[in-house]
Amino acid sequence: MTKNLRVGLIGAGSIAQSHMRGWEENKHAEVVAICDIKRKAREDTAKRWDVAKNALFDDCEKMLAKVELDVVDVCTPNASHRAPTIAGFEAGCHVLVEKPVAISADECRAMIKAGKEADRLLMVAQVLRFGVEGQTLRAWVDAGLVGDIYWGQCSCLCPRGVPSWGEFIDAQASGGGPCYDLGVHVLDLALYLMDFPEPVSVSGATYLGLADKPSLMKHDPAKYTVPEDMAAGFIRFANGATLSVQTSWALNVTEAATGHKVILCGDKAGLQYSPPTLIREENGMLINSVPQVPVDVPKDGFVAEIDAFVDAILKGEPSPVPGEQALITQRILDGIYASGAAGEEVKV
Ligand SMILES: NC(=O)c1ccc[n+]([C@@H]2O[C@H](COP(=O)([O-])OP(=O)(O)OC[C@H]3O[C@@H](n4cnc5c(N)ncnc54)[C@H](O)[C@@H]3O)[C@@H](O)[C@H]2O)c1
Repeated sequence: MTKNLRVGLIGAGSIAQSHMRGWEENKHAEVVAICDIKRKAREDTAKRWDVAKNALFDDCEKMLAKVELDVVDVCTPNASHRAPTIAGFEAGCHVLVEKPVAISADECRAMIKAGKEADRLLMVAQVLRFGVEGQTLRAWVDAGLVGDIYWGQCSCLCPRGVPSWGEFIDAQASGGGPCYDLGVHVLDLALYLMDFPEPVSVSGATYLGLADKPSLMKHDPAKYTVPEDMAAGFIRFANGATLSVQTSWALNVTEAATGHKVILCGDKAGLQYSPPTLIREENGMLINSVPQVPVDVPKDGFVAEIDAFVDAILKGEPSPVPGEQALITQRILDGIYASGAAGEEVKV
């Protein structure tokens, strides 16, 4: 079957392999060129996913000049999201970019502006929304079962999970630690379910308690230059709702505290994740409902997120995860760092 959207991958490391599976399974799009500054990464990925050897590049500008593309998929480290995204828009492509969208709200604004000027879609790869559990939670919200959500908390706490691959612990490349890396996942899911209320202020704190010291973890503590291994924030929204977020790469907690967790409380019911649980009064009792057969999303999050992006492009619909939503998340994450540095609540 001829696929009609031509995709260029930028950054062929770890997460790119999950994207490549999504592109391979999609009926309408295929990756026809790969760019990575590391020769081994681009060659190994091309071999694994059957991309032509003559369509491999070490620089995205060269790839965009040489290959006609409809889409670029940006899977580079966080501090290298903005430049290829804007280059992709300038070449007339739609852009899928990994999370966090950028390393500052201003970078995110520049990416949104470039997308608007090019009249192309910007989608941020917030994969938790697209998995079966995220879609189950959203289906309950859409059905009006939860009502107005006025309080929530979300967390992703790893006891010993500092990334030992890639450039996550290098502040220049990542822009930040678990606040950006893990906080963005649970914060996006919570905000998506709350319909992205406007944030007003953030009170946050960051800690570097463990990751810069010798430990059980595989990374080199001497190379740890990001500001934190744990971050916490409390967010006030214009609609009166509040949300707390906690995230760590290293913390003295049990495995039971780990994983992506979201609690959201509405005036009709509460939501908990994971597993997706609806908590509400029925027949004079408070009942926890956990579906045995969740909503009909047969594919995993990565395949479903790429399908959603391709569908939006082909149907001329809005981005499934627009830059404007990512900007709200980015303002909050930046607010946690700013508040931690200031030692007081900050306006966002
Ligand atoms: N959605 C998820 O669950 C998830 C999971 C892991 C990582 N991520 C995100 O994906 C991004 C990449 O993470 P990763 O784990 O794949 O890292 P990685 O280090 O494994 O891969 C990044 C690749 O980008 C290449 N690269 C760096 N700068 C480049 C440039 N300017 N042009 C072209 N290639 C360049 C590197 O050589 C490397 O091969 C990060 O933003 C990260 O936050 C998302």
